[in-house]
Amino acid sequence: MPDLLVPLYHLPGPVEMNGIWIGRPPSHLAHRVAGYVGDNFGERWRSESLSSLRAVPPKMLVAVEEGAGGIKGFCCWDATALGFLGPVGVSPEARGRGIGKALVLRCLSMMRDQGYGYAVIGAAGPVGFFQSFCDARPIEGSEPGIYHCPIDGSSRPD
Ligand SMILES: CC(C)(COP(=O)(O)OP(=O)(O)OC[C@H]1O[C@@H](n2cnc3c(N)ncnc32)[C@H](O)[C@@H]1OP(=O)(O)O)[C@@H](O)C(=O)NCCC(=O)NCCS
Repeated sequence: MPDLLVPLYHLPGPVEMNGIWIGRPPSHLAHRVAGYVGDNFGERWRSESLSSLRAVPPKMLVAVEEGAGGIKGFCCWDATALGFLGPVGVSPEARGRGIGKALVLRCLSMMRDQGYGYAVIGAAGPVGFFQSFCDARPIEGSEPGIYHCPIDGSSRPD
């Protein structure tokens, strides 16, 4: 899976969503958010999201269904490396409603406001998802990327 490079100086405008609140999780609810990520997307993403959750203010946005009150998705930046966006995930039952797109675009615009000129989407799985709404370009030579580490048995090509 290649990394994708996203120029932040020509992003599309934000997506408004009816009935979905998108915002930064407050630190006193970090345990709830980390639990959501772990339960729905596994321990690796839970670990990765912790650095974004523990930043002040958090470098993470969550999507919450208003009324029902449940977390439906999340997106992090600066989690594993500065300038990287991800992980991003939407609960299976909430997919296809534009939540993932709204989360990613809001996070990209927050990265731009933070001073980045480009964002990197590391080891992008569904490349077509990102390319459907922003100018995401595969980075040549980006495999294996930053996620490969001898701790979990994967080796670097050098
Ligand atoms: C990828 C994911 C975040 C998409 O969330 P979503 O809320 O269902 O996506 P959206 O509804 O916002 O879709 C936005 C657009 O992307 C397209 N899209 C969604 N998933 C796609 C995929 N896997 N491949 C290609 N295009 C995709 C949609 O058709 C839509 O296009 P449209 O605007 O022309 O209708 C979600 O499927 C998910 O959590 N997957 C598992 C985790 C994952 O793979 N995360 C990304 C890697 S870090």
